[in-house]
Amino acid sequence: DLYNFRQLGPDTKVHGVIGNPIGHSKSPHLYNPAFKSVNFNGIYLPLLVDNVANFLNTYSSPDFVGYSYTIPHKEAGFNCCDEIDPIAKEIGAISCMIRRPDGKLMGYNVDYLGAIAAIEEGLRATNGASNGSGSPLAGKLFVVMGAGGAGKALAFGGKEKGARVVVANRTYEKAKQLASKVGGEAITLAELENFHPEEGMILANTTSVGMKPKIENTPLSKKALKHYCLVFDAIYTPKLTRLLTEAQESGATVVYGTEMFINQAFVQFEKFTGLPAPKQLIRDTLARNT
Ligand code: ATR
Repeated sequence: DLYNFRQLGPDTKVHGVIGNPIGHSKSPHLYNPAFKSVNFNGIYLPLLVDNVANFLNTYSSPDFVGYSYTIPHKEAGFNCCDEIDPIAKEIGAISCMIRRPDGKLMGYNVDYLGAIAAIEEGLRATNGASNGSGSPLAGKLFVVMGAGGAGKALAFGGKEKGARVVVANRTYEKAKQLASKVGGEAITLAELENFHPEEGMILANTTSVGMKPKIENTPLSKKALKHYCLVFDAIYTPKLTRLLTEAQESGATVVYGTEMFINQAFVQFEKFTGLPAPKQLIRDTLARNT
């Protein structure tokens, strides 16, 4: 029922998520029912791809109109775009690609939009109604752990919202490179243990530390977590990582990685269909499939 091939016709818009491995992807479970709910004539497939450029050349049919990109192809996808959104260009990776009617491939990175929206929502919920129209991240000290694709996305997103960004990474050189691009400070993950220039900081984990199956690991000690008012973990398997459990115990607001996934799905849905996302349906579908 997920892939209703009987409904395929000459006007059906084909979408897919490009990754390797791809069997575990929740995206087809999310987009197919969402397309159907708004009567959008589209289908969304899991695409196990080894070589992105070869794939795009082989399936350059105008029927293929939208792709999501996941591990490990976000950078390869970036290199196949004809045009790239300015933020995606800074990040050096894409998560969404749209084939325009003229055949040109447009690249976007919507990961950071999802993550930042989720963090802002968490801050608003913590601080009560926001006082004014500005981002609740503005002026805040925002520590991003990790400097890979997701780390870059979060750091640029934080900068865009006016946060003071600190990049903490195992490899200092990579932290330094990213921090200099966002006008922030660079430290090592080890140094982060004793880094607390102020209280009420915001923390985002983008390293893979604590991801299934090594769920006993955590990128920052519980002792250090007391200096943060909100902690976000980009990991979503498991939903409740050790980092988030300990942050909760320390009194911080926690934002799950699933929120990043949900929020970026809203943005992608709107790019694919040109229609507003059926947000509650997407949330419910995802809850049923996790
Ligand atoms: P993604 O696209 O998900 O961000 P990535 O680009 O491979 O993935 O980046 C992985 C990030 O996790 C990097 O910041 C990496 O640190 P290094 O730059 O030092 O490699 C971090 N990371 C991965 N395993 C780690 C570990 N065991 N301890 C600390 N950091 C780790």
